[in-house]
Amino acid sequence: MSQPLITLDFLDTLPTPTPDATTHEDSPSGAVRVSPATETGRKRKLYIESYGCQMNFSDSEIVSSILFEEGFDTTEQLEGADLVLLNTCSIREKAEQTVRMRLSQINGHKKRNPGLLVGVLGCMAERLKSKFLEEEKLVDLVVGPDAYRDLPQLIQQVDGGQKAVNVLLSREETYADITPVRLNSNGITAFISIMRGCDNMCSFCVVPFTRGRERSRDAHSIIREAQDLVAAGYKEVTLLGQNVDSYKWASEDGTEHVNFAQLLERVALVSPNLRVRFSTSHPKDITDEVLHTMARHDNICKYIHLPAQSGNSRVLALMNRTYDRPWYEERVQAIRRILGEDCAISTDMISGFCSETEEEHQDTLSLMEFVHYDMAYMFFYSERPGTLAARKLEDDVPLPVKKRRLQEVIDLQQQHSRLRNQLAVGKVHRVLVENFSKRSADHLSGRNSQNQVVIFPKKHYQKGDYVDVLVHSGSASTLLGEAV
Ligand code: SAH
Ligand code: SF4
Ligand code: F3S
Repeated sequence: MSQPLITLDFLDTLPTPTPDATTHEDSPSGAVRVSPATETGRKRKLYIESYGCQMNFSDSEIVSSILFEEGFDTTEQLEGADLVLLNTCSIREKAEQTVRMRLSQINGHKKRNPGLLVGVLGCMAERLKSKFLEEEKLVDLVVGPDAYRDLPQLIQQVDGGQKAVNVLLSREETYADITPVRLNSNGITAFISIMRGCDNMCSFCVVPFTRGRERSRDAHSIIREAQDLVAAGYKEVTLLGQNVDSYKWASEDGTEHVNFAQLLERVALVSPNLRVRFSTSHPKDITDEVLHTMARHDNICKYIHLPAQSGNSRVLALMNRTYDRPWYEERVQAIRRILGEDCAISTDMISGFCSETEEEHQDTLSLMEFVHYDMAYMFFYSERPGTLAARKLEDDVPLPVKKRRLQEVIDLQQQHSRLRNQLAVGKVHRVLVENFSKRSADHLSGRNSQNQVVIFPKKHYQKGDYVDVLVHSGSASTLLGEAV
């Protein structure tokens, strides 16, 4: 996963959650991220912490850019900040509890420093709206994901002694013209947000309510952003959206239509030295055209995040995923046919969804056996207020059963991750170096096309180099090797 912001629990490992991590909040990237300092001598200091998915991390870069123009530097220290923003996630109950706990800690800071302004952004802001101001007295500002352009105005309002809320969702907003402040400390990998919102209405999911309708960003602005990143020395971009395969953009005069496969190709053509990744692919939408485009371009990484959620067709129907197990298996076979066994596939799985039986849980395990995922994000079902499942289905699998099933999923995934990593041993992998290894300054850490983490002795190599590494051993999370 890219590291555009400092992550507090940075590890040299693939983010397969440990049993502990899955019961903590961990949605995909697995960490709270604090934006690092910009230090350009601006008058006020912004401390911004991001929770949840990469979309939030990417949005925090847009927020920083908007507030930079307003005279705010970012700082890594809560102590001494003038404005604290939490960019929040609502995906599971635990995610919201984490933010509530953080707010009570921040309350302590505010008591010592009454001038401190506190704002809540992102999905929890959108879900709770002005209720936040009633429930959390220290909060001055509540801003939803489509209202960040209004932040300067809202902050003025707060400076004037009022509370401020803007949670309007938009059908058009893509922040296409805002150049994110790249809070990336490595200067090598970056996110490009290509679409916002989601129209899928999976019955368990809060995202359509917190992020609004799906909309695709102007293809030209995406290409320009990729070109600018290459000019600034970046080596990898990840195209982001809840469902990138449904990307669809047309020019205003209607003469130009771009789908996801075409966009991917255009980004790949920006530079052969720029690696391209994307996330997330919805199994119902990923086309052979996308897979053939990946096959044609060496610089499009051979890694697909294809969340299954369950291996049972009845449960998938209840989840409103709009595909069944045979469809999913066929898409996996298409990946293997067009891209070969080497293409990595990862998934998200939910254990203990409403009315899931023991046999249906076994189907999830058997799907995992069918695919042999390289990596997985695994969760037990957490009912979210207002979703289709909360309104129509009973959350009837007891928590201990959910947790036991989840543990079985995690244990099996550990075996498969190890197996997939073993297959990498004895081969040469092209690695993009991103950082020093956490374990030793004499080692570098990077990822191969399949998104596997590879660690090797530094020698004369540097961050940002592409290095061919012969892998000699591998655990479930990391590959070790030597440059050749
Ligand atoms: N757009 C992506 C998913 C984004 S949310 C997709 O469709 O694949 C990331 C993951 O969180 C989901 O894939 C799902 O596995 C998990 N998730 C979402 N809602 C959940 C809930 N109510 N309980 C448990 N896990 C949930
Ligand atoms: Fe949620 Fe489904 Fe949309 Fe993914 S595709 S964000 S799971 S509603
Ligand atoms: Fe969470 Fe919102 Fe992302 S609910 S996972 S931050 S889209």
